[in-house]
Amino acid sequence: MMRVDAKDMGADLEKVLITKEEIDAKLAELAAKIDAEYAGRDLLIVGVLKGAVMVMADLARALSTPVTMDWMAVSSYGAGTQSSGVVRILKDLDTDIKGKHVLIVEDIIDSGLTLSWLINNLGSREPASLKVCTLLRKPDAAKVAIDVEWVGFDIPNEFVVGYGLDYAEKYRNLPFVGTLAPHVYGG
Ligand code: XMP
Ligand code: MG
Repeated sequence: MMRVDAKDMGADLEKVLITKEEIDAKLAELAAKIDAEYAGRDLLIVGVLKGAVMVMADLARALSTPVTMDWMAVSSYGAGTQSSGVVRILKDLDTDIKGKHVLIVEDIIDSGLTLSWLINNLGSREPASLKVCTLLRKPDAAKVAIDVEWVGFDIPNEFVVGYGLDYAEKYRNLPFVGTLAPHVYGG
């Protein structure tokens, strides 16, 4: 097991799944591909709050393409940990995306229901193009037909925290992605 010394949360974590160094290297790799795709064009990157904050911040700085940034906050209706696919907008974009090249930046795609809703919603606003970049993707995402252009890491079907991802709003500021120890869940 890897040594965990960040933010004194070591005891809550089971293992480090993706290190900060691996995230940095992957974002540099993705940024190069995204730069190639949008060369010479204006790009608006849209982050989905709150989880995508870290990916947005680091990806944006890894890009050479000049970007503008906007944010959306959405919430899935329905109880439990499964997303229902019924989505409510908590905060809409500040800008009109009609005619713009838009890249949605996500922290994680699990069932894919949230993203699929978002693609329909933003797609109906007539952007010039609409693509998706996610740092993490879980296996269930394969069950829905969504095109995700850029994926950082395909991960196992485990609950992960860190680098923007939370459990009960905690652990977002860990610089790596890890899994939680069972005792944190009350086990
Ligand atoms: P979908 O609709 O793709 O939902 O099922 C994606 C959203 O679910 C949350 N999610 C997680 N959050 N660790 C987290 O901290 C996880 O392992 C995880 N899996 C899904 C997250 O809010 C994401 O945007
Ligand atoms: Mg999210």
